[in-house]
Amino acid sequence: MTSFPEGFLWGAATAAHQVEGNNLNNDWWRLEQVAADYGVQASGDALDSYHRYHEDMRLLADRGFTAYRFSLEWSRIEPLPGQFSRAALDHYRRMIDTARELGLEPVVTVHHFTHPVWFDDRGAWLWDGAVDAFMRYAEQACTILGDVHWIITINEPNVLAITHGGQRQVALGNPYPRNALPDQEIGDVLIAAHRVAAPMLRQRTGARVGWSVANQALTATPGNEEKFTEVQYLIEDKYLQVSREDDFVGVQSYTSQPVEADGIVPHPVADDNTLMGWAYRPDALGIAVRHTRDVVGPDVPILVTENGIATDDDERRIAYTTAALEEVAAAIGQGVNVRGYLHWSLLDNFEWGHWAPTFGLVAVNRETFARHPKPSLDWLGEVARRNAV
Ligand code: FCB
Repeated sequence: MTSFPEGFLWGAATAAHQVEGNNLNNDWWRLEQVAADYGVQASGDALDSYHRYHEDMRLLADRGFTAYRFSLEWSRIEPLPGQFSRAALDHYRRMIDTARELGLEPVVTVHHFTHPVWFDDRGAWLWDGAVDAFMRYAEQACTILGDVHWIITINEPNVLAITHGGQRQVALGNPYPRNALPDQEIGDVLIAAHRVAAPMLRQRTGARVGWSVANQALTATPGNEEKFTEVQYLIEDKYLQVSREDDFVGVQSYTSQPVEADGIVPHPVADDNTLMGWAYRPDALGIAVRHTRDVVGPDVPILVTENGIATDDDERRIAYTTAALEEVAAAIGQGVNVRGYLHWSLLDNFEWGHWAPTFGLVAVNRETFARHPKPSLDWLGEVARRNAV
């Protein structure tokens, strides 16, 4: 048995659009309505977590978990530019209170991939008012975040800059770029948005504030070290370097990929690929936390804000997570300052246009909304209670 440091946070994560349902007013909903021809499924009612969040959080609390990560939905909080919904803010305040009452530390993401349609109509992150608009929204969010201890400004800016960069290319009449890198311009705007919002959130709430970066656990292939360094900077380190100024950094890791002369090598088809088509690499999390420490430095604590596997075989989920946690424990043993582990995801949810990749510790019947805990939920709860794997 390997123990984790005292006070280590044990939880699971979700994001508003993936679980709430009927987020009628954001860019993803809009895309889902028009992109069926391209195989994009709709979120619809999702898991109705907008109403069932108490039940969701109890699933964790009853089993001894100590944290829950969820996100605020900007399009509900600011349905029209400058028009803020007190009722939506109150809703998220109730979620924070519920987490606390149940003994769960709320880890709150201010922006997780979605934005209001009016923001989209103005050009999204390339609109010259984007940073100011995000700041105004974050200021309103502060009115309910006063006693929250962990705030993530923007989830995976490096992935957001890839997906929005891809959409931009399609809008310009170009094909969606294969194995795309983040769009540099969008990435720069996200960095600017984080750099103005983070100090404000820190000052008004007293929370630890940071952002969560997708870590691809990239490795160099022989002779391609220079290309590797270039790609790693563009896709990851540029965003991790920003975290040097923060109170913590969120690490999100699922798999690992080599870099060759042409860039990142696509995952080869393999029997043990996950339902995302990603290589089965539980060791990626160890590479990810070490690399993050190397870039960000030893003084900025790390929170694993996402790690998990899309599989319909729950034993495999347990095996993957066991190996990933052993990696975290080994890194901690070598001095990497990891403060907690939030599994992706609590629920089988809407995986951005697809319902098939199931990441949840809990299955959900989408007709009745009944929650069906998988053995992995009990197993990870037991790890949390023992604080050891
Ligand atoms: C991350 C996202 C999260 C989820 C997982 C699988 O990129 O932050 O919402 O989709 O991947």
